[in-house]
Amino acid sequence: MMLAPALVLGITQFYGVTAISSLNVDTSSGPVQGFMDDITPHPKSKENAIIKATGTGPACPQFEGNAPNIWLTDAPEFIILPRDYQGEDCLNVNVWAPWNECEDEGDEAEFLPVIVWIYGGSFLTGGPTVPYQIPARWVERTGKYFVVGINYRVNIFGFPNAKALADDQQNLGLLDQRLALEWGRDNIANFNGDPKRITLWGQSAGAVSVDEFNFAYPEDPIVQGLIMNSSADTGTEINCLRGVDSANIIRFLNAYADNGTTPALTFNQITDNRTKFANYTACALAGKFTRMPAIIGSATKGGVAFLSYNQTYGPDQTDANALTASLILCPVVKTTQDRYAANATTFRYLYGGNFSNIAPRPWEVAFHSSDLPLIFGIYGIVRSNDYYLAFAKDPVNGLPELGWDAYETNGEAVFLGYEGKVLQSIKESVLESPCNGSTPNGLSLPW
Ligand SMILES: *[C@@H]1O[C@H](CO)[C@@H](O)[C@H](O)[C@H]1NC(C)=O
Ligand SMILES: *[C@@H]1O[C@H](CO)[C@@H](O)[C@H](O)[C@H]1NC(C)=O
Ligand SMILES: *[C@@H]1O[C@H](CO)[C@@H](O)[C@H](O)[C@H]1NC(C)=O
Ligand SMILES: *[C@@H]1O[C@H](CO)[C@@H](O)[C@H](O)[C@H]1NC(C)=O
Ligand SMILES: *[C@@H]1O[C@H](CO)[C@@H](O)[C@H](O)[C@H]1NC(C)=O
Ligand SMILES: *[C@@H]1O[C@H](CO)[C@@H](O)[C@H](O)[C@H]1NC(C)=O
Ligand SMILES: *[C@@H]1O[C@H](CO)[C@@H](O)[C@H](O)[C@H]1NC(C)=O
Ligand SMILES: *[C@@H]1O[C@H](CO)[C@@H](O)[C@H](O)[C@H]1NC(C)=O
Repeated sequence: MMLAPALVLGITQFYGVTAISSLNVDTSSGPVQGFMDDITPHPKSKENAIIKATGTGPACPQFEGNAPNIWLTDAPEFIILPRDYQGEDCLNVNVWAPWNECEDEGDEAEFLPVIVWIYGGSFLTGGPTVPYQIPARWVERTGKYFVVGINYRVNIFGFPNAKALADDQQNLGLLDQRLALEWGRDNIANFNGDPKRITLWGQSAGAVSVDEFNFAYPEDPIVQGLIMNSSADTGTEINCLRGVDSANIIRFLNAYADNGTTPALTFNQITDNRTKFANYTACALAGKFTRMPAIIGSATKGGVAFLSYNQTYGPDQTDANALTASLILCPVVKTTQDRYAANATTFRYLYGGNFSNIAPRPWEVAFHSSDLPLIFGIYGIVRSNDYYLAFAKDPVNGLPELGWDAYETNGEAVFLGYEGKVLQSIKESVLESPCNGSTPNGLSLPW
């Protein structure tokens, strides 16, 4: 094999020989992939370890429990499939890129905007194989951007809250997210993605993560825009646990949750003043956040998904509405108001769709997460996708150019899918009426 004599690597004693630095070589017959002969010792290195990215990696260890809920019972496409495709070697990123067969080789490569996705699941579940969160069709249809899905550790593995850990080693799941984002920044240009136009998007616990990220890295945010979709808020002997197989730990946690032992085991984030702070309002007023523009939204009936229910009639509607307000709507209102007080641009939306294929029971309507299939393009409903893309291209001007103005106290939010209408608006004063800041004030939901 003749190779251009560019690489000599200082091994001049092998005169006349040019070393090879890659097992992939372009030839006039097409690319050739070689292999390393086993009889020659060789160090493991970046050059000779090809990452076979021909499928998603496993989800991080997790369990679903046996308590019935909308996602498990009626819309299992919100859960990782197959359920047992999980394991400790889970810190992967998944890159979805549009394919353009007709790319003219003479054209200068166009670097496309990148949306980095952080899944939700109460910091207990989530992964790359959730059918309603696979963006392949969305990316293919527009051909105009990339999606990078971040895997991060959840439950006890992500948030061990262990005394033995130093403060800079808490909230491991959040540190995983940051590392994955840094990898994206450093490598996405090699895929033709634009490292200067990265938008960070999370839903539910993922949205909480995005908001926390916003405060943790103001000096080096990497991203230029944020999307927070319906954020809902939700000590062990660490060295001993490190020796235990993750599957055994998950089996134990699952059995413990299913037999209803109280108090339940929880794996919460802890305030380390690095990834998580004590008072976000104070941080916002002090200007200690990235100030990047953000899209923030929630669903009209978010709370119905978090209560036990009668399959025909659903949960008690008064309880469900109270939960929608306390768990989702009012925290989102407060975040929006804090951002406004700190002069950060926020685009606000409310989702009220009622699609029987996503929400098969009449009372489920726009439950928490029910907008995700639309955004991910599973049903080919294009409209709201264009907004995310416009934002990813230009977080400051993209949405106003489409008629969606930034949040103002007397302004209007975009209202999607409500009562069969694709798009309408709702006055911010009406949307916020059930909330005093992050606290419900007892007034009923206006929808
Ligand atoms: C519940 O499950 C856990 C984990 O298997 C077990 O340790 C505990 O004894 C069980 N409690 C009851 C009341 O069955
Ligand atoms: C974080 O900061 C708060 C207030 O600034 C302080 O009260 C708290 O002790 C700090 N916590 C840690 C873990 O540093
Ligand atoms: C958080 O900070 C804000 C602004 O400084 C203050 O008004 C509020 O009382 C603080 N909240 C808590 C729980 O300390
Ligand atoms: C954002 O997430 C919330 C919570 O899942 C959902 O209700 C809302 O419809 C989503 N909206 C968009 C446009 O992403
Ligand atoms: C649901 O509620 C109806 C009306 O109260 C009742 O007749 C039915 O038995 C309930 N179904 C279940 C599964 O609890
Ligand atoms: C926001 O802008 C107003 C008016 O320009 C200014 O008075 C205020 O200090 C700013 N707030 C922050 C947190 O930057
Ligand atoms: C949602 O759609 C179902 C039909 O799929 C209907 O029975 C129900 O009344 C609708 N609910 C609302 C609030 O529009
Ligand atoms: C909400 O705020 C109003 C006026 O600021 C106050 O009168 C009312 O008591 C508050 N309600 C709650 C539940 O905090």
